[in-house]
Amino acid sequence: MKRNHSSGGPDYRPETLALGYGYDPFLSEGAIKPPVFLTSTFQFRSAADGKRFFELAYGLGEPKGDENPGLIYSRLNNPNLQIFEERMAAFDQTEAAAVFASGMAAIASTVLALTRPGDVIVSSAPVYGGTHYLFKNILPRYGIEVRFVPAGDDAPAAMARVADECGPERVRMLFLETPANPSITLTDIQAVARLARRLSTDRERPVVTAVDNTFLGPVFQRPASSGADLVIYSATKFIGGHSDLIAGVVSGGQALMNEILEIRAILGTMANPFTGWMLLRSLETLSVRMHRQAKSALKLAQMLARHSKVRRVMHPSLLEPGSNQHDILERQCSGPGALISFEVDGGEQAAFKVLDSFEICSLAVSLGGTETLVEHPMTMTHADVPPDELELLGVSPGLIRISVGLEHLTDLKRDIRQALEKI
Ligand SMILES: Cc1ncc(COP(=O)(O)O)c(C=O)c1O
Repeated sequence: MKRNHSSGGPDYRPETLALGYGYDPFLSEGAIKPPVFLTSTFQFRSAADGKRFFELAYGLGEPKGDENPGLIYSRLNNPNLQIFEERMAAFDQTEAAAVFASGMAAIASTVLALTRPGDVIVSSAPVYGGTHYLFKNILPRYGIEVRFVPAGDDAPAAMARVADECGPERVRMLFLETPANPSITLTDIQAVARLARRLSTDRERPVVTAVDNTFLGPVFQRPASSGADLVIYSATKFIGGHSDLIAGVVSGGQALMNEILEIRAILGTMANPFTGWMLLRSLETLSVRMHRQAKSALKLAQMLARHSKVRRVMHPSLLEPGSNQHDILERQCSGPGALISFEVDGGEQAAFKVLDSFEICSLAVSLGGTETLVEHPMTMTHADVPPDELELLGVSPGLIRISVGLEHLTDLKRDIRQALEKI
């Protein structure tokens, strides 16, 4: 199955490519699905082949036509990872993708590949706790400074101000997480990418826009189409989708990806073949799952917004038409996603009562799985965020986050209603 016109085939959609692209059954005894290539190393047919594969893998020679580096060693390449990567790039509409052992391995490898001592990363805030820790506590040890600006309407202008303050020539990366978690605040990717291009004028190393697309992508948000250079995921979430694996993905243009692949090959931050195989299975149903989960989330958000014991609900479907946030949603996203945050009256005690009363929804952090997960951001995912920052993020003691799964909507509605009745 070919990916697009330029490679000689019709322009199939990612949902179709997820079922067959990049795999030739007749190289694997006709098996309709790729086997798991649980092997550390690959045998060369000849010494000349081995030499050529290394030349291509290490960039010591130019590929002839569409020649690809052959399989060498599973830290460098493996069929389960490569097939998944080609299908992910199709979803993201990018030239290449790379799969990692975790979302954090993807983020850390990207930053290590692209920054040098003295560089500045300007990041939206909030970002996932692990990313925040990396940016705040680990990168400064290597001379890389990270400045944060609040996510939302003013983020692109705030990033421009920060770049002016610290010297535009030092800025190497603009990092975004949109929607932000758990406030579901959106940041305009196009506007940030425009700023990156402006800051890159007359520079040898352009400023890179990197978007953590874990919450909506790749089905409802395609940052590369909005001008982002790199799209990053915790594939542990919707992409894996069954709460049974840990993985990460980065995708983007081939030149940037080559820099990231170099670091992945040397640090060994790639995923293992079995995880690659599980991700391939998951990618086949990704679009169906995300659409169904978002459809249920929309109905649940509407129900929560009408409930007398709920003070406020955050879900993109509830953004006010005409507001800046709604405009960004319309331009940038094709669906609202499956994450809802809502606040109950009565603070932590009431929130805990609700959390302990669910019968179907499971009390656990993480998100994007087939089962509905509920958690308390203030004492769980955001436990190490200082109180003044929590207030800015809208994280209050009564706030609960739901990642809506695939259970029947009627049962989810009933479960949420009965849990709210307990307070
Ligand atoms: C938005 C986001 N990015 C990155 C990560 C890190 O991913 P992982 O846990 O796969 O390392 C997470 C994990 O929760 C996340 O929510």
